[in-house]
Amino acid sequence: MAGATMTDLFAAQRDRGQEMTVEHDGIVLDFSKNRVTTHTMDLLVGLAQEAGLEAGVEAMFRGERINITEDRAVLHTALRAPHDTVVEVEGRDVVPDVHGVLERMGAFADRVRSGRWRGMSGKPIAAVVNIGIGGSDLGPAMAYQALREFSTDTLDVRFVSNVDGHDLARTLRDLEPETTLFVISSKTFTTVETLTNARTARRWLLASSDEPDAVARHFVAVSTNTDEVAAFGIDPANMFEFWDWVGGRYSLHSAIGLSLVLAVGPQRFREMLAGAHSMDQHFRTAPLRQNLPVLLGLLGIWYRNFWDAQTHAILPYDQRLSRVPAYLQQLDMESNGKSAGRDGRECPVGTAPIIWGEPGTNGQHAFFQLLHQGTVFMSCDFIGVLEPGHDLPGHHDLLMANLFAQSEALAFGKPEDDSGPPELRVHRRFLGNRPSNTILIPRLTPYSLGQLIALYEHKVFAQGWIWGVNSFDQWGVELGKVLANRIVAEIDSEGDLTHDSSTNALIQRYRHARRAAGRNRKAGQ
Ligand code: F6P
Repeated sequence: MAGATMTDLFAAQRDRGQEMTVEHDGIVLDFSKNRVTTHTMDLLVGLAQEAGLEAGVEAMFRGERINITEDRAVLHTALRAPHDTVVEVEGRDVVPDVHGVLERMGAFADRVRSGRWRGMSGKPIAAVVNIGIGGSDLGPAMAYQALREFSTDTLDVRFVSNVDGHDLARTLRDLEPETTLFVISSKTFTTVETLTNARTARRWLLASSDEPDAVARHFVAVSTNTDEVAAFGIDPANMFEFWDWVGGRYSLHSAIGLSLVLAVGPQRFREMLAGAHSMDQHFRTAPLRQNLPVLLGLLGIWYRNFWDAQTHAILPYDQRLSRVPAYLQQLDMESNGKSAGRDGRECPVGTAPIIWGEPGTNGQHAFFQLLHQGTVFMSCDFIGVLEPGHDLPGHHDLLMANLFAQSEALAFGKPEDDSGPPELRVHRRFLGNRPSNTILIPRLTPYSLGQLIALYEHKVFAQGWIWGVNSFDQWGVELGKVLANRIVAEIDSEGDLTHDSSTNALIQRYRHARRAAGRNRKAGQ
């Protein structure tokens, strides 16, 4: 395919645009603007079959322990399974547990949203602060941003993730302790950033009150770890549970969605689950050739492994989806950014690309120059929503026109014209032949957002399975955590440093600055 141009491919296949478009339950994937023929797609599907993808999908849905390094099942799909489904983990049907927690979340959200849940001074809750990081932040924060139009106006919902105190300080600056509810979201309840923020939040609350039930009125937890939740001082009665078979980056549809439920209400949350379930069913049952997540996954493998693409951009043409690239960064890179295979050997091929992106049209005025004329070979996903959620005239046509124009320009470029100064011709040329997928969603609703999330979850699964990595562990985050723990103690102790000369010098410089800041603070008092 190296010599084939998209111009030729489209000329050779008159209805290519339609023939390379697949639709499921309103979600449209047009993959025609890729450097593939029908034969390429057949070969890629053959690769998926050879890699045993269909058996892998079944193993996941059936609750087999496919997360082999942590010896766990992978069942985020059970979070959106309807009441009457049976999904067993070690012989126990987990669907009733899932729905039990959903009902508790809904009942709690109704109490908070209606003002029946009172703060320590008897006032209703006005602000919700979700404290979590990674999967315990990105999912609900992304979905809240996407679904603001469905949110109640009576609750101000905020998200704090970074251990950088500016994040929490700015978030709390204009909030009243007596009307603020903290949702401490952490699968493990041992994540240092989240616990540091949660402790500071608790101090902030208690500084304004000595009510004995202040923490109980203003803190709830979402976790799998009851002991740690209790040790923190949150009554397990105020804890919303999920399970070790839900990975952090796959947890938005679990109790980790509590802040979102508070914002949009339980019914809307259930609609999101239904959308995800629809995509689950499609992924499990549709033939590979018609299977949206599989097609996206295979095209990603095509560019990553056959064209050596290092990066893939996510370009939502919708401001409401502005956090989707960040969300997919964790989903994809933490899942498949691995070099060890499931068989315990070094992976012989490249795995996850770098995922990044920004909403259109903003990106066009920033980095699209490189997309059109740069020297990096890459692929991208354009995501568009057909019907807007506002009625401002003119905007949506312009937005969608830009989306369509960008994928067209990337694919076909512009033939060299001989107008203008000859020395500028090379600067003004667009070679085209740059691949993209276009995903269209009818309207952005909880349902379609659930579909979109599951679409990408399963794309990542399909790729990870074919690459032969375990998409559900994240050992690569451990070393930094261990070193940070050691260094934080060293900063405080002022003792000898035994790192490399760079790290030693950086820590020393920080120690000096810290001492100077301490002296300045004292002098200022
Ligand atoms: O450090 C990475 C990670 O474990 C992610 O996988 C996870 O989403 C995040 O930290 C937060 O973990 P927790 O929900 O246990 O606080």
